[in-house]
Amino acid sequence: MLDRRIQELESGSLARIRSARSPDDLEAIRVELFGRRDGAFTLIGKEMGRLKPDERRRIGLLLNAAKRNLEEALDLKKRQFADAELSARLDAEWIDLTLPAPGPRRGHLHPMTQIQRELEELFVSLGFTVLDGPEVETEYHNFDALNIPATHPARDAQDTFWLENGLLLRTHTSPVQVRGMEKLGPPLRMIAPGRAFRNETVDASHEHTFYQLEGMMVDRDVSVAHLLYFMRTLLAAIFKREVEVRLRPGYFPFVEPGFELDIRCVICGGTGCAVCKQNGWVELLPCGLVHPNVLSMSGIDPEQWNGFAFGLGLTRLAMMRHAIDDIRLLQGNDLRFLEQF
Ligand code: PHE
Repeated sequence: MLDRRIQELESGSLARIRSARSPDDLEAIRVELFGRRDGAFTLIGKEMGRLKPDERRRIGLLLNAAKRNLEEALDLKKRQFADAELSARLDAEWIDLTLPAPGPRRGHLHPMTQIQRELEELFVSLGFTVLDGPEVETEYHNFDALNIPATHPARDAQDTFWLENGLLLRTHTSPVQVRGMEKLGPPLRMIAPGRAFRNETVDASHEHTFYQLEGMMVDRDVSVAHLLYFMRTLLAAIFKREVEVRLRPGYFPFVEPGFELDIRCVICGGTGCAVCKQNGWVELLPCGLVHPNVLSMSGIDPEQWNGFAFGLGLTRLAMMRHAIDDIRLLQGNDLRFLEQF
C-alpha cells in the first residue's frame, strides 16, 4: 500500500520537477513534498508509525531512496535555472573589453578666446607687441592720462564701477595705451586684448563685462590712411571677406580726429535686428589719431611722434562673426551653446 504511494509520488513528482517553468514552481513542489507540517513525505513518515518493525524498515529504505532522488532532481533543475539566467544576463550585458577606451572628452577654446588668439597672431605678424594690463585700474590710467580729467563730461559716458579704495574696474582697454607708452617708448606698435567693465543694464547687446582689443601705433608721420589700412586688414582676416564699413566722426578725448568705424550688420545683412538696434550698422571700431596731450603725458614728444589708436569691440566682433544675436550667451557657460563652436 505505502509502496505504491511512494512510487507514484516519486514518479509523478519527478515529471513535475522536469517540466517546472521557474524557480518559483520548483519551490512550490519542494514545499509540497518536504514541508514540515503537511509535506507528502512528512505525512507518509507519520503513517509509518503504525507498521510492524520489519515492514517499517523496508518502507523506510524505500522512502529515503525516493527522497534522495527527488532532492537530486530539485537541485539539478535549480542549477539549470541559475545557468540559464546567468547566460541570459551575459548575453544582455556583455562589454567588449578589447575595444579602445573612449578617453577623456575633448574641450575646445571659447569663441572669445579663438577670436582673440587669431587677432593676436595677425597683429604679431604685422609687428605689434601683445600687452596685458590690470583689470583693476587707477583713475589716472583709465581717465586722466587719456585726456579725461575729473571735471570732463566724457567721464559720464562710461558708467564706472568704482572701488572703495579709489581704484576702479577699467571701463575700456585704453589704459593699456598709457602703460604701453610708459613701458615701450616710441616708436611702438602694441595691442592689448582683455576685459572691460561698465555699469550697464544687461540686454541682448549690452553686458557689464565685455572684451575689447586695444591697438596703438606710434611712429613718425602716421596718418588716417595707415589707420584705415590696419582696420581693413583686421576685418578681412576675421570675416574672411570684404565687410562693408563706414567712417563717422566720433568723439573721444584721447584721439583727434576721432572716428567711429561701423560695419554693415552681418546678422541681418542691414535690414535691422536686435543686435544692430534696427539700424543696419554696428559700431565696432572706435579709433583715431592719438591726441598730442596723451603722448606728452606719457613722456612722448608730440612734435616728433604721432600715432593712431583703436578700441575694437571684441565681443561684438565675435557676435557678428558667428551670427550670435544675444550677448548674454557669450558671457554664460552653457555647453549646449558653446559646443557649437
Ligand atoms: N576706449 C574707447 C571706448 O571704449 C574706444 C577707443 C579706443 C576710441 C581707442 C578711440 C581710440 O569707448
